[in-house]
This record gives sequence, C-alpha cells and structure tokens, in this order.
Amino acid sequence: MDELLRVQALARRYGAATVFENVEFTLRAGEFLAIVGESGVGKSTLLNCLAGLDGWDAGRIVHAGGTDLAALDDAQRALWRRAHVGFVFQAFHVLPHLDVAQNVGLPLLLLDRHDGARVQQMLAAVGLEGLGGRLPQQLSGGQLQRVAIARALVHRPALLLADEPTGNLDPGTAARIMDLLIAQTREHGAALVLVTHSQAAAARADRVLHLTAQGIRPGA
Ligand SMILES: Nc1ncnc2c1ncn2[C@@H]1O[C@H](COP(=O)(O)OP(=O)(O)O)[C@@H](O)[C@H]1O
Ligand SMILES: [Mg+2]
Repeated sequence: MDELLRVQALARRYGAATVFENVEFTLRAGEFLAIVGESGVGKSTLLNCLAGLDGWDAGRIVHAGGTDLAALDDAQRALWRRAHVGFVFQAFHVLPHLDVAQNVGLPLLLLDRHDGARVQQMLAAVGLEGLGGRLPQQLSGGQLQRVAIARALVHRPALLLADEPTGNLDPGTAARIMDLLIAQTREHGAALVLVTHSQAAAARADRVLHLTAQGIRPGA
C-alpha cells in the first residue's frame, strides 16, 4: 500500500527537558495505527506535530506526495491541514454557537466546498439523522463525539488523528464510539492514528506502537 506518512528521528524538547526523541515510523494509506504510552510521555504532542499544529526540535515529518511539514509556513500548513487531515479530540471541541449541521459542515466551508447533502449523509452515517438543527449543549457526550467524528471525515481526509477520543465517555458509550470511529474510518478509506489508554481499543488496530521518551517501538 502507499505510504501516507513518514516520521524520521523526531524529537521534541522544552528547554533542557526532552519530551521524546528518536521517534521513527511510517504509516500506510488506510492503515489503523494505535499509539500507547504513559501519561505525559508526549502522545498529544506527537499527534499535534503530525498535524502541523505543534513544532519539533529535530527530525522530519513527511506526508504523502513528499509534503515536508517543516518546509511550509503557518498559512500553508493550515491550508494543507484543512484539506488532508481530520482531528478528533478527547474534549470534543465542538463549537458551542454553531448547530450540529454547521459544526459538521465547517471543514467543507473552510475549503469553499459547502455541501449540505454531504453533511446530511455524514449525520446519518454517525447516527445523528434529524439532529442537525440542535445546539451542542442539547447533546450528550456520546452524541458530541459523533458530531466530531462526522466533522473529521466530512471532507474525506486521507488521515484521521484521534487523541483519546473515548476518554471522556462511560465504558458502554466509549465502546460504541470506538466501533463507529473505526467503521467510519474504514468506510472512508482513511488512515487512523489513535492515541489511547484503552487496551481494548489498541487491540483493534492493525499495528500498535509504544511511545517512550527514548523513542517508539512495536507492542502494547
Ligand atoms: N509549555 C510546556 N513547557 C514545558 N513542558 C511542557 C509544555 N507543554 C507540555 N509539556 C510537557 O510535555 C510532555 C508531554 O505532554 P503530552 O503530549 O500532553 O503527553 P500525553 O498526551 O502523552 O499525556 C508533558 O510531560 C508535559 O509536561
Ligand atoms: Mg494527551
């Protein structure tokens, strides 16, 4: 399969403190990769680096087609991210003043590709049919994460990044959201990088990598 992402000798430091170094891995198109590791080891930092939302101190991140994130300025990186990446966060990050349909449609709007039918299709795909006019405050946590999943995939990105997406949910809801996230990612043919504490979630990945301060290695 095609290579979607290559991370080479990546390091992130704060002053003299090293968060991680020697992080190396590749990701294939459509692959589901889980990244596990202790709290504070830098999992969120690494995901943000992959999305070009955070900087790093050594190494390279090269995306499909040879896009070297370090070679892009902030504006170019934002445009690249809008087109190619979807993000699902633990805390949902749904915009409170926009209704559900507007939240889901936002990536299309930012790409100048508004498409109401596509938004309705995504709402149905995540089990929120008929709820497009609701405000986020009228939804449960599980429903909010469904909105976030629909928003992350509506523009058909090749790469979906998910940072502890079930961390704020009760176990039953978490299991259903993980099922949905994986099914929708597969349905769209996107690659998924999932940061998780959940052994059950990691066990469903094609591959598991363990992040430590010294690097990243196979295994749970
Ligand atoms: N502004 C900062 N200054 C110094 N250290 C920071 C700063 N921001 C984050 N860190 C450190 O980076 C490390 C990685 O954090 P994070 O990526 O959130 O870890 P994880 O997601 O694995 O729990 C933490 O140990 C944290 O203390
Ligand atoms: Mg984190």
